[in-house]
Amino acid sequence: MIAAIIQARTGSVRLPNKVLKKIKGNPVLWYVIKRVQQSKKIQDIVVATTSNKNDDIICDLCNLWNIKYFQGSENDVLDRYYQTAKFFNVDIIVRITADCPLIDFRVIDDVISLLTDNSLDFASNCLLPSFPDGMDVSVFSFKSLEIAWKNASLCFEREHVTPFIQNNSSYYNKSLFKAENYSFKTNFSHIRLTLDEKEDFDVIQFLIERTELDTSWLTYVALLTKYPEVLNMNAIYTRDEGYQSSLLEDKYTSKNDNRLSNNNKRMQDRAKKIIPGMTQLLSKRPDQFSYGVWPTYYSKAKGSYIWDLEKKCYLDMSIGGIGANILGYADEDVDKAVKTAISLGTSSSLNCPEEIELAELLCDIHPWADQVRYARTGGEAMAIAVRIARALTEKDKIAFCGYHGWHDWYLSANLNRINNLSKHLLPELNPLGVPKNLSDTVFPFRYNQIDDLIKIVNNYSSELAAIVMEPIRNEKPKDFFLQDVKKIARKHHLVLIFDEITSGFRMNSGGAHLLLDVIPDIAVFSKALGNGYPISAIIGKKNVMEVVQKTFISSTNWTERIGPTAALATIKKFIKIDAGKHLMAIGDKIQRNWKSIAKQNEIPIKVNFGIPSIGQFSFQVDNAMSLKALFVQLMLHKNILASNVFYAMAAHSFNNVDHYLSNFEDTFCELYKAISIDCVDKLLIGQPSNIGLNRLN
Ligand SMILES: Cc1ncc(COP(=O)(O)O)c(C=O)c1O
Repeated sequence: MIAAIIQARTGSVRLPNKVLKKIKGNPVLWYVIKRVQQSKKIQDIVVATTSNKNDDIICDLCNLWNIKYFQGSENDVLDRYYQTAKFFNVDIIVRITADCPLIDFRVIDDVISLLTDNSLDFASNCLLPSFPDGMDVSVFSFKSLEIAWKNASLCFEREHVTPFIQNNSSYYNKSLFKAENYSFKTNFSHIRLTLDEKEDFDVIQFLIERTELDTSWLTYVALLTKYPEVLNMNAIYTRDEGYQSSLLEDKYTSKNDNRLSNNNKRMQDRAKKIIPGMTQLLSKRPDQFSYGVWPTYYSKAKGSYIWDLEKKCYLDMSIGGIGANILGYADEDVDKAVKTAISLGTSSSLNCPEEIELAELLCDIHPWADQVRYARTGGEAMAIAVRIARALTEKDKIAFCGYHGWHDWYLSANLNRINNLSKHLLPELNPLGVPKNLSDTVFPFRYNQIDDLIKIVNNYSSELAAIVMEPIRNEKPKDFFLQDVKKIARKHHLVLIFDEITSGFRMNSGGAHLLLDVIPDIAVFSKALGNGYPISAIIGKKNVMEVVQKTFISSTNWTERIGPTAALATIKKFIKIDAGKHLMAIGDKIQRNWKSIAKQNEIPIKVNFGIPSIGQFSFQVDNAMSLKALFVQLMLHKNILASNVFYAMAAHSFNNVDHYLSNFEDTFCELYKAISIDCVDKLLIGQPSNIGLNRLN
């Protein structure tokens, strides 16, 4: 028996009760049934609705109209079809959806003939749509339905009935089902005769009010062509939105969903209670990525891979330990040197000789520098550098550009103007707790904006001690900017301090200033220097550095042995493998591909081209933070840690990069779909970040 099974329910999300909406006194469902009843090939009609109480009204209507019905699962529509077909002994199922009140019996009969005349398992006019949306007919054998019912496992395959058959059919070069598409010579697939939105209803009402029950679909097309204002009413909606959104949603609702494990969630809850701000570094907080999905804690890290608390392994294409792990995680050579240092004692009443060897190596690499001091973190090393400049010049004021850490001297920039740091790090960073009498001691200038610096120097020349800046970050220096900065420093006797905490050992074996050909008075290194072990170094000219002896700069743990040992091993390996070259090559490849993939997918992004081995892009859309969170989420689903920032590590192989880029491309394709059906926020499992790092230099 050939029977039409019309799926109908009241619970549509976009247009509730749509099948009950009345036109000329009759519900939409009535039109569907009346038009299907005109088929010459269909022997019976069954309405397949849900066992949901709200859908009892559909059963009441079927009773009233003397139409068979079946009540089954609301979401597993494949099961609903299977049970309906089985119950009524249907051999050939004609699938119609109740949101197609203009369905044409002529098209239905043609698709049935295509199946029966060619002994197909599946025939449809939707494999490659050419008919208007709303003329959708799929015809298949009970046997095919049963195979799909037994084997389909993904949510969207169960919700949309036919994807399993389609995707395993000859139409897609698979052998499980023999399938063909029924097409029309002209493509009218952009025209909407389906009922999903309020505007669709207006269009359908317009057409029904002007035509008969047996009017052909071509007459509808002709009418709409005659009345373009009606045609345009629903033109903004995309075909098969429901299908596309469940395809995307499936990624999260299927077994492999990437919600946080209980273990990880418990750890975050414990942290929130006992560690204010959850972690010691803003950039490693889960809300910087997507709170609720970002794994946050690791059990193991090796090379370019990280294992979370569930031992789930991710390729890390994100922040590379926020730039600290320049060689890669748990580097064998560095760890070996550190283990030896541990076995020989990492701290004692005497000093370790490694700090002298490291100082000599740093001065060899940077021949302009004569002396070195150490600390263990970047921020404290910068505080030391600023102290040295102030001690030497006996002046207080500083002109600065970029981010330099959490210390009082730097945050004081925001004391009297909360936005002073907004162009350098975070908008409205709160200087609460910084002594108020430090206000008006430090002044920001923007990168590549020499006039900003000139203005500061003109205003405060006689009170300035230093110019503090990152020599390069998100932009390359333009128009002799760095040379001009140096000239100003010389002219006004200011100490020029290059903060190489992020730029150092990232483009070359040493400070980026060697490549940029501008020599400072002091350069500061940390991050990459110890490949994750804590160490920072302040290197400088003798006449500048020697003032350290006149002021007081001293700390117990700056004398331990692991930091300098790790730095020595890291630098030696970095030089041996010429890591800078590799970092630059992969960074460059990634940034170029970001741009082209985003362009292909019509998603506007801005890529910062500064240090190639540190890439950063931002979404140029209104809901940028939501899109970033969805990007993070979709990449996690592919077992890749990624955000809008990429720090290259020597352990990243070109295979890693290619794997990442192909997943990046798939993810941008998914983002495009999510944007085009306006469901970015709907798809988010975690929360979008509400703070974005905003370093401009
Ligand atoms: C240029 C620069 N200076 C200073 C710092 C502060 O270093 P740390 O986080 O080790 O205190 C950072 C950290 O991101 C940095 O990028």
